[in-house]
Amino acid sequence: MSSAEIVQLSDAIGAEIRGVDLRQPLDDQTARVIEQAWYDHVIILFRDQDITLEQQRAFAANFGELAKRQRTGATEAERELGENVMLISNIRENGKQIGKLPDGEMMFHSDTPYMENPQKATILYAIEVPTKGGETLFSNSYKVAETLPEDVKHRIAGRKALQIYDYNTDDVPTGNFDRSKHPHFEHPIFRKHPETGRTSLYVSELMTDEIIGLPEDESRQLLQSLFEHQRRDEFVYAHAWRPGDLLMWDNRCSVHARNDFPGDQRRLLRRLTLYDEHPVMMGEPPYREAAAQ
Ligand code: SIN
Repeated sequence: MSSAEIVQLSDAIGAEIRGVDLRQPLDDQTARVIEQAWYDHVIILFRDQDITLEQQRAFAANFGELAKRQRTGATEAERELGENVMLISNIRENGKQIGKLPDGEMMFHSDTPYMENPQKATILYAIEVPTKGGETLFSNSYKVAETLPEDVKHRIAGRKALQIYDYNTDDVPTGNFDRSKHPHFEHPIFRKHPETGRTSLYVSELMTDEIIGLPEDESRQLLQSLFEHQRRDEFVYAHAWRPGDLLMWDNRCSVHARNDFPGDQRRLLRRLTLYDEHPVMMGEPPYREAAAQ
């Protein structure tokens, strides 16, 4: 019998899994219990883990295929760790960043929705964290989709949105990014999760630029209302990191953001991701039916 104990983190999203030592390979039964908890709770947390990169890789491989970094420009420290690894860090050595996403707050987004086949899971392990701030916020995109006003559901049912990201800026896209330069892709707004069959809202303030087929003003105004809905407290859990935390989140049904933190304190997290399938439109009731009425 598996020793894993599942404890809910908040009403919005998330569960902590206790009683599992990630230095050891997972037996099949424990791996399946963890996978089901991940589907049920969208993000899962393991605390007080003291794991190497190889042990983190072995954990991740239970749930899918490790993704290669989506772009060139890895730092020297990242290249030494291999093609799957991103360091999220504000640490600078000899004036150079050792990792990515170094400073300050970040707006809600999922990982790589601007690719044709984005990343389904992110597995982030905390090594050094500031004494305050730097929480990662997670919003439950199933609950966000379910609770949208009916008229909004009707307006976006069956539509796609353009996802884009400019790696060089924290700015949000407002039709101002050069699409010949930056990666972008159109994906369904209501996305069907391939494992749970549930519907999630697949947009985010940092990476969604346009609802395809709507006039620009209407698209912008509708997106703003979706982003506001996504930020509501009742859908969000703020994770205050401790060294030794390992979090795995599902990019198909959550978005995440980051709170600001003191720039003079070190922050270092090690990130792996898993490949996703091509996102599928939620074409079945209630949304298709609702749209037809
Ligand atoms: C990210 O993956 O967007 C960064 C999360 C964080 O630094 O807390």
